[in-house]
Amino acid sequence: MRAITRTALPLPLHSRGKVRDTYRLSDHELLMVATDRISAFDVVLPTPIPEKGRVLNQLSLSWFRKTADLVRNHLAPDPALPGALLREQPDLEQRSMRVLTAQPILFECVVRGYISGSGWKDYQLTGSIAGERLPGGLRESDRLPDPIFTPATKAISGHDENISPAELANRTGQELAQQLEQLSLSLYRFAAERALESGLILADTKFEFGFHAGEVILIDELLTPDSSRFWDAAHYRPGGPQPSFDKQYVRDYLEQVGWNKQAPAPALPDEVVDGTSRRYLEALRRLTGPAGPREPRGVRSERLRRHVPS
Ligand SMILES: Nc1ncnc2c1ncn2[C@@H]1O[C@H](COP(=O)(O)OP(=O)(O)O)[C@@H](O)[C@H]1O
Ligand SMILES: [Mg+2]
Repeated sequence: MRAITRTALPLPLHSRGKVRDTYRLSDHELLMVATDRISAFDVVLPTPIPEKGRVLNQLSLSWFRKTADLVRNHLAPDPALPGALLREQPDLEQRSMRVLTAQPILFECVVRGYISGSGWKDYQLTGSIAGERLPGGLRESDRLPDPIFTPATKAISGHDENISPAELANRTGQELAQQLEQLSLSLYRFAAERALESGLILADTKFEFGFHAGEVILIDELLTPDSSRFWDAAHYRPGGPQPSFDKQYVRDYLEQVGWNKQAPAPALPDEVVDGTSRRYLEALRRLTGPAGPREPRGVRSERLRRHVPS
């Protein structure tokens, strides 16, 4: 499958994010197209990852459907994509989502069930994460006694900044902050349990919410390897970092070549591209079943031909 780095659809452009190109379908609906772009350390890399956009979109769709009873989300009531567009660019279908336009709430709602990444760094320095005191003696990747809510600002450009739940309440008001925390924690608990049924640990994840018709709804992507850390439960060994299905593999490569984390980023060699693509596909297979929710026939036969595990 050809990788798509940038789209140019005959629709008004709403925004281009690091990964998704979003178009206006009407006054109240958007078409979000997941490209194969990959970002690391908040910089978009020059090399795309084949299959990544499709995987992200199909995983998000599947989780939005599974969690619809828990929290209202941005999926449009009619999921059908514009027919004319699909006839011209059939590979858009698997990577696109029709959604309700929301007013994004500019905070990232992070939930951590395990101690890893910036949470582990914070804990080593302070014994806390986001101001929340934790028991002493935790090892890297240990499970936390209870999942914790560690929000961050969503920087328009540059790096997100972790803030405490109290600081979130200062900025959004107590009521909205509490609502975001409760929704995030219940989504995490639900998803962590479902992931474990597929043999995956959901170490942490990030949700985004927005306002639609005066109501808080879940927006953006949901429980993908770009927004979450998934670990293989069968190989879980706390006391160090865990191999994961996300872009840690790419980050490790970029660290190893000594990139200074300022744009432009270096290109990725073929083996890192293939390894990353394989990890994303494996996450999709594990979380949604052998062929993913709606895999087109072409992709399947292409994968068999290349002996990529499905
Ligand atoms: N339903 C929605 N309505 C309006 N904006 C949305 C909606 N869902 C997601 N978004 C926004 O669209 C963008 C998605 O593209 P993405 O590549 O993830 O951008 P970013 O670089 O900001 O992470 C995000 O900025 C996200 O906040
Ligand atoms: Mg994003």
